Amino acid sequence: MPQSPIRKLAPLATAAKERGVKVYHLNIGQPDLETPQEGLDVLRNIDRHILEYSPSQGFKSYRDKLVGYYAKYKIHLTAEDIIITSGGSEAVLFAFMSCLNPGDEIIIPEPAYANYMAFAISAGAKIRSIATTIEEGFSLPKVEEFEKLINERTRAILICNPNNPTGYLYTRREMNQIRDLVKKYDLYLFSDEVYREFIYTGSPYISACHLEGIEDNVVLIDSVSKRYSECGIRIGALITKNPEIRQAVMKFCQARLSPPLLGQLVAEASIDASEEYMRDIYDEYVERRKCLIDGLNRIPGVYSPIPMGAFYTMARLPVDDSEKFCAWCLTDFNYEGETVMMAPGAGFYTTPGAGHDEVRIAYVLKKEDLLRALFILRKALEAYPGRTL
Ligand SMILES: Cc1ncc(COP(=O)(O)O)c(C=O)c1O
Repeated sequence: MPQSPIRKLAPLATAAKERGVKVYHLNIGQPDLETPQEGLDVLRNIDRHILEYSPSQGFKSYRDKLVGYYAKYKIHLTAEDIIITSGGSEAVLFAFMSCLNPGDEIIIPEPAYANYMAFAISAGAKIRSIATTIEEGFSLPKVEEFEKLINERTRAILICNPNNPTGYLYTRREMNQIRDLVKKYDLYLFSDEVYREFIYTGSPYISACHLEGIEDNVVLIDSVSKRYSECGIRIGALITKNPEIRQAVMKFCQARLSPPLLGQLVAEASIDASEEYMRDIYDEYVERRKCLIDGLNRIPGVYSPIPMGAFYTMARLPVDDSEKFCAWCLTDFNYEGETVMMAPGAGFYTTPGAGHDEVRIAYVLKKEDLLRALFILRKALEAYPGRTL
């Protein structure tokens, strides 16, 4: 099992804090924004005498309400299509365990959300990475590049849209290209769309569920962690129109008994979050994105493309090895008692050597903290002995 690149430097950050150094966390997608009041009120006013198991597929009332939520995105479902999971994480794991046999291959554009690799290993599946590059803004390679990777063991393509870690949003042309490949080779399409609320460019959001002719191939991965700032309630969903997949997934669901009771109550209530709440959160990320990307590109030697969605960017730094640099920021550096923590890029790639001068930065801190973190990053790069430019 690989260590999570997002969390592996955590002991160094803890040690830095113990020495009295303040650490700006740019490494993790834990939003600092408040959970909707509707969700918090459910916890505050809970009136239950037994905190019991819930059905393995999740509460029907919650799944019914989700049908309405998805309809707003022109994703037309019934409650039967939706299985509630312990976070999007469990949905990814159950999708892999249900659809893939040991030795099966899954094509994933890289850089990719690192835990996909850990879950693939858990399922005995093999990831075949298809490279996207910072120079090309992380757009998808041509169909022929995908076809080069397809063989008799290939079972699935996984996309994350909008993308973590790159912030890339797949275009209609790219989504159609994926649809054609899925159809031609009869593959599963796992589509992780946990960031659909956070698209900043006015470009259309094309869900895998909008693609015609592959309805039975699509498994949608979802989560409330990011959209309602509810990472701790551990509620996600696995959605598919394919009854055979659902049947297999349900066996895993039954084995883990039920998804979190309290989390489902909060998530169900949060669907009623006001438009104003959702708009404020959105506007806040728009501001933060601008602040971070402008700031990064102003630091000599640093380059970041403009992410179209989610709340991350992959930035290139003028350093010999970003993992060494990120560790050094925590162990050997501070500026006026403060430092920054970032996620080293290499952990988001499976190709050896790829991403060694990149870091993933999350813009989940308020603007004044982001500005300060950018200033400290600039100072760190000036002082780092392994600087390359
Ligand atoms: C792309 C993506 N998918 C899935 C997850 C898992 O989220 P959770 O298990 O909190 O729902 C995350 C968390 O950061 C993510 O970024």
